[in-house]
Amino acid sequence: MKPNLLTLRIQRFNKEKDPSGWIEPFEVEVRKGMNLLEALLRIQDEQDRGLAFRYSCRGAVCGSCAMRVNGKDVLACRTHVEDLLEKPALIEPLPLFPVTRDLIVDMSAFFDRYRKMEPYLQAKPISPQVEYPMEEEKRKEIDPYINCILCGICFGTCPAFEKDSEFLGPAMLAKAYRFLVDPRDRRNEEILRAVNHQQGVWGCKTVFNCVKVCPKQVPPTYAIVKMRNRVLWYRIRHLISPSQPFGRFFS
Ligand code: FES
Repeated sequence: MKPNLLTLRIQRFNKEKDPSGWIEPFEVEVRKGMNLLEALLRIQDEQDRGLAFRYSCRGAVCGSCAMRVNGKDVLACRTHVEDLLEKPALIEPLPLFPVTRDLIVDMSAFFDRYRKMEPYLQAKPISPQVEYPMEEEKRKEIDPYINCILCGICFGTCPAFEKDSEFLGPAMLAKAYRFLVDPRDRRNEEILRAVNHQQGVWGCKTVFNCVKVCPKQVPPTYAIVKMRNRVLWYRIRHLISPSQPFGRFFS
């Protein structure tokens, strides 16, 4: 292999052409600073117009170029091809999602779960209507979870799905926590109810895969553990004093 020649072995899929899929090798000349997304775009431009993959922002913001590279799930636009020159790199679609075409997967199940979480602020009514100042400490707690770009990488690496395909997933649980700790949101108990089950916080294996692979350093496992603690705390409080405001939580 020439030193400036990148070899990509791309997992292809086209239901009409070959429903079992196939692996196709491509070679691309590498230029300095090139990333995997650029290499794929070059292949599409110069060698195979039919090669299908998803992208939009090209800057690690939209989350749409997630794929599996040599067994690791990454964003193509953040993967430097210099790191892939040693031997032919295997490029596959994200695991666990049904493949639509080549590297494109159907993320409907992911976004259905996301919508279920109602991932938007449902503010407490404040009167009179004034600005709601956020305390620095509260903001720091929320900040890491705001960075999620919904790329789906955490889904593909989560072992909880092996046991239960209906598991809510790390991204959704991180989002639930983001609103649970937002002092402006009124849903405290409602959010805990939505995650307090085996397909929610109790289904997590706490192996921290999602924390390790997240390209935006979102730490879902920490959110899950904190929500478990909160549930346990309410449980204990209810045992000591059943008339506490969250007594209804377990009745
Ligand atoms: S193209 Fe948007 S994250 Fe890669």
